[in-house]
Amino acid sequence: MAKKKRVLTGITTSGIPHLGNLAGAILPAIKASQSNSKQSFLFLADYHSLIKNSDSNLTHSSSFEIASCWLACGLDPNKAIFYRQSDVPHIMELTWVLGCLTAKGLMNRAHAYKAAVAENAKEDLDKGITMGLFNYPILMAADILMFNADIVPVGQDQKQHVEMTRDIASRFNHHYGEVFTIPDASIEEDAGVLPGIDGRKMSKSYKNHIPIFLTKDDLRKRIMKIKTDSKEPGEPKEIKESSVFSIYRAFASDKQIESFSKQYKEGIAWGEAKELLFELLEEKISPFRKKYEELIKDRNELEKILQLGAEKALDVSTPIINQVRSAVGIRGFGD
Ligand code: TRP
Repeated sequence: MAKKKRVLTGITTSGIPHLGNLAGAILPAIKASQSNSKQSFLFLADYHSLIKNSDSNLTHSSSFEIASCWLACGLDPNKAIFYRQSDVPHIMELTWVLGCLTAKGLMNRAHAYKAAVAENAKEDLDKGITMGLFNYPILMAADILMFNADIVPVGQDQKQHVEMTRDIASRFNHHYGEVFTIPDASIEEDAGVLPGIDGRKMSKSYKNHIPIFLTKDDLRKRIMKIKTDSKEPGEPKEIKESSVFSIYRAFASDKQIESFSKQYKEGIAWGEAKELLFELLEEKISPFRKKYEELIKDRNELEKILQLGAEKALDVSTPIINQVRSAVGIRGFGD
């Protein structure tokens, strides 16, 4: 049998995801993990969270909440290797090795770092910039190379990091001998991007997002706030520019989409369209919400799941880190 392709994605543990994350990343990744031709690695990038956040309680609770969220939304830990980055210390070790052969100039070009420097323009260029932010692409390269991943599904904003990973891996292989697989990014299309309640891309930083786990009442309230145009009931409505429609489409079946667009043509009132969106979302999300509430009550059970994931991850990373150590000349003195 051909070797299964390894698909690897990291989830930065900051805050509970919103509907845009659910439709664009979580549900597609869960679906992909069910494929028998691929092996999925999904991990909580908890050391990445330290780059943006120095609140230890938040780091801890986010990691726990996000793990619960993925499981509640249907991730089967037997179908994927689901682990915490911090449970695989080999990643940190590899970060150092890769850092020692990564040109500083390459890191100078990283978007997140450049954006931070640009904000400082004319003042002290280093203001507020930690080595964590500067080295972030190297940690991400280690996340990927530690498991010799073949495919890395990421959003457009992360594409540069995968390219840097390819650069770093090639440099290592060229200098020390072939150890690493050169990974390919698989870029999620914009179709996966949902609008928020103000019509711009749904994002926590715009505060226009709809969190996944609102109570039923709060979900309804949030949906009623979605911006629409001022067309009266009875007037035909455009599906193209309607956030209500775009969000509906991301969660509905083909048949439901067809009938909803017909109702738009027939001039459905905005209040009614929102009500239908609410009903659809409530139907999809309430089982996830119920499971989430069960999971967050049992921290020990969740810990067990992650420990099993860590064991599986270590089985893969151990031979690779041994190869790396040996390749760079860090090895025992005996035969
Ligand atoms: N940096 C990614 C993000 O912010 C998360 C991430 C960390 C990641 N390590 C990774 C994604 C490795 C893919 C592969 O979204």
